[in-house]
Amino acid sequence: MTESAVSLARKTVPFLAPCRLSIVVVVVLTAAVSSVEALEPLLMKMLFDSLGQESVMRDFTMAAVGLVLLSVGNQAVGGFLNWLTWRVRINVQFNIQKALVGRLFSLPISFFRKRSVGALVLQMNRSIEGYMGGFSEVTTRILPNLLYLSISLVSMYVLNLHLFLLALAFAPLPTLIGIWAAKEQQEREQKLLTSWCSVFARFNEALSGISLVKCFGKESTEGQWFMNRVGETNRIVMRGVQRDTSIGSVTALITRLGRIAIALLGGYLVLQGKTTIGTVVAFMGYMGGLFGPVQGLTGTYQTFRRTSVFLRSMFEILDEPDPLQDRPDAKCIANMHGDVRFENVNFRYDEAQTIQNFTLDVKAGQTIALVGPSGAGKTTIACLLQRLYDPQQGVVTIDGVDLRCIRRDSLRSQIGCVLQENVLFNDTIRNNICYGRPDATQEEIEAAAKAANAHEFIMTLRKRYDTMVGEAGSLLSAGQRQRISIARALLKNAPILILDEATSAMDVECESQVQDAIDKLIRGRTTFVIAHRLHTIRNADKIVLIRNGKIERTGTHRELMLGSPYYASLVRKQMFGPSGKERLAA
Ligand SMILES: Nc1ncnc2c1ncn2[C@@H]1O[C@H](COP(=O)(O)OP(=O)(O)OP(=O)(O)O)[C@@H](O)[C@H]1O
Ligand SMILES: [Mg+2]
Repeated sequence: MTESAVSLARKTVPFLAPCRLSIVVVVVLTAAVSSVEALEPLLMKMLFDSLGQESVMRDFTMAAVGLVLLSVGNQAVGGFLNWLTWRVRINVQFNIQKALVGRLFSLPISFFRKRSVGALVLQMNRSIEGYMGGFSEVTTRILPNLLYLSISLVSMYVLNLHLFLLALAFAPLPTLIGIWAAKEQQEREQKLLTSWCSVFARFNEALSGISLVKCFGKESTEGQWFMNRVGETNRIVMRGVQRDTSIGSVTALITRLGRIAIALLGGYLVLQGKTTIGTVVAFMGYMGGLFGPVQGLTGTYQTFRRTSVFLRSMFEILDEPDPLQDRPDAKCIANMHGDVRFENVNFRYDEAQTIQNFTLDVKAGQTIALVGPSGAGKTTIACLLQRLYDPQQGVVTIDGVDLRCIRRDSLRSQIGCVLQENVLFNDTIRNNICYGRPDATQEEIEAAAKAANAHEFIMTLRKRYDTMVGEAGSLLSAGQRQRISIARALLKNAPILILDEATSAMDVECESQVQDAIDKLIRGRTTFVIAHRLHTIRNADKIVLIRNGKIERTGTHRELMLGSPYYASLVRKQMFGPSGKERLAA
């Protein structure tokens, strides 16, 4: 048993605390049932020893009635115990799920960028399942086994010293074998968990990207890869089963040999007249009570070690530091004015510097366009404004307040955004549009959809606003998804708006209509527009040209056309094509 396994187990106390009374009842009742069960061999002894005695009828009847009452009582309490144990299990599991889910949703986006969703879900489910298995075993088996073991030992000692000493010679062997086996079992469990997580990580990715898999004709390759990995993991399981079965057989053999040895010595002692048949029968019963708990406790030890693997995996999520957590004194800011300032911001995801010395002053209501080559850092700037990441140096403020001093929920409630990758949930169009404002009326939802030029196509769908959009919106076209995302951002009606390539997937006609709606919408709001199609940002109050994470130049369209050869060349390329020759002429 490693220290860390114990300290991990201790960390689960808060999940158990709300059910402590029920847990105590389960532990006590299970122990009571087991103790009462320990009486059974004694009643058996009474029953057999009464045969041939004068008071046979009285003792026989008493023993028989005792046995019947014992069985009925045990069954009744056992039934109640089963119900209560399940209730405790479900409640403890709920507490863990609540903590894990709460933690997962509050963790920063950087946590998810490095992990696969499939692996994360599997890790979470397996950990909870594994822990619950271990928890049930520990609560329902340790105390009863200890009690039963003590009662058995005392009774055996009292019944016959020779038989007792012989039994003691066999008893520790299963434990020693079990302890020896536990280390490998723990390592195997870790290997299995890691292996299953990696298998399902890829499986989940392949299914999410099924269109790509099909485009490249990789269906059978992906399927084969998955089955190969499942096969490999199954081989680990089978090697484990083989090993556990061999160990189980050796342990069972030792137990049987112990019983045979006791039977032989008992028979010899009966023949010598040194003990009664009833005593030997009772002793044989207690032999079960000795080896059973010894094996049970060894099994619990093994389970405990295996459970530590699941606990470690669970606390890997629960203990994951959240550098973006709200400070205790974080403020709630309602009705932001919308002044934004980036002050000498430096940011990197990993090693390479992504944003360098970025300083930008934006007055409330202004429209700022962020332009620059792919990978320049435009989306990163938008992420910093939403505080999806904190800069390593510098500060981002809204209305003069450092974002780190504002409560996250309050900050994000004030920012509407259309993400570069349009995320829709497999829900109705209505629910997707009102995601940021679930209380919006149908009129408001329709108004937002009309402004985003989405209403018309929605009305052609059979179920209109009740149409399900499919997994990640896959039943809609990219342009339609984009319009739903714009409607969703419009409905939120936030004072700050981020539009990251919001119209990139639309045809020219649709784009110009949506652009009109956007132009109306951004009036009076601080808006950050990120666009590769430069004609959409001509009217911006300020265009910020970013290259390699640095501001190369700032100005209006006209100023940049005159002052930045790079910007002018970008505009020319978009108008006339890469060669500089007019496209239409070709
Ligand atoms: N989560 C991340 N982890 C590590 N690096 C990242 C991450 N996201 C982006 N980057 C890197 O940061 C740089 C800036 O990325 P960003 O998404 O801000 O560019 P962009 O200007 O929005 O590009 P595009 O126009 O193609 O959308 C890129 O080099 C990119 O590889
Ligand atoms: Mg981007």
